[in-house]
Amino acid sequence: MEIRRVGVVGLGTMGAGIAQVSVQAGFDTVGREVNDELGERGKATIDRYLTRGVEKRRLTQEEKDAAIGRLTLTTELADLANCDLVIEAVLEELPLKREVFAELDRVTRPDAILATNTSALSVAEIAEAADRPERVVGMHFFNPAPVLPLVEIVRAPQSSDDAVRAAYDWAQGAGKQPVNCNDTPGFIVNRILIPLLNDCVRVLDEAGVAPEDLDKAMTNGAGWPLGPCGLVDLVGIDVHIHASEALYEKLGEERMAPPERLLQLQKQGRLGRKTGHGFFDYE
Ligand SMILES: NC(=O)c1ccc[n+]([C@@H]2O[C@H](COP(=O)([O-])OP(=O)(O)OC[C@H]3O[C@@H](n4cnc5c(N)ncnc54)[C@H](O)[C@@H]3O)[C@@H](O)[C@H]2O)c1
Repeated sequence: MEIRRVGVVGLGTMGAGIAQVSVQAGFDTVGREVNDELGERGKATIDRYLTRGVEKRRLTQEEKDAAIGRLTLTTELADLANCDLVIEAVLEELPLKREVFAELDRVTRPDAILATNTSALSVAEIAEAADRPERVVGMHFFNPAPVLPLVEIVRAPQSSDDAVRAAYDWAQGAGKQPVNCNDTPGFIVNRILIPLLNDCVRVLDEAGVAPEDLDKAMTNGAGWPLGPCGLVDLVGIDVHIHASEALYEKLGEERMAPPERLLQLQKQGRLGRKTGHGFFDYE
């Protein structure tokens, strides 16, 4: 099927990024927020990133104006009725996502593709809320969505081949690098990266290594573009802990449980770059 019009539910960190990807790729995009103020805030975030892109000569002023002109805002899920693809990026709470999918199932055309950007919930359990669960897939973008190319296209047991293919093709057409995967805990990247980063953090205490030295070791010795402490600071220590807890709950391996040092940093409000402090200070 041809996707012309895209809906994005939630214009928070991920939703705003996904909507930006969509409008920059030339799709008319409807962004739905819970109120007008949050909608305008999401749009302002996109405008700011695009303006920076113009300043850095990554796009022209005309391209920016055209992109932002493709975005409309609404507070009603019913306004997504004409969308061919709807990507949900609301809070990571199963009852909320199920509520959104039950409503999307009612208001959209039967052939529209419904995608969730969940990181840690089961796509199958979200899909169960729809009467037509075969059109539900996962589309797991990475933060920041306009910058990181990967999108994990997640097939739940109920997902149809057509829905999976349409989501994959759309992501590719929007300039992303989609990969196919199944609805297993952590999908691909988080399943590998979360326990690995937890191992790195545990080495700090087990081996008495300073965060600066750990990061220097992994960038210079293992070729990582960014050290593990810098990466957890960038992702957000709370976000990493949440993902660790979700994986640990599902798979039960000790490596997946968040290390004590991260829990202490969270307790101190040192959540990484977004608070100005984490393993490192950013002010
Ligand atoms: N932040 C990341 O690094 C990241 C990466 C990949 C996937 N995700 C996933 O993306 C999704 C969104 O995460 P985020 O980081 O953008 O969160 P966020 O807190 O920035 O945004 C949450 C969004 O949910 C909306 N929301 C809150 N309560 C709502 C309600 N009752 N009804 C409808 N909408 C409501 C908010 O208005 C906002 O748009 C989550 O499922 C998360 O797991 C996050």
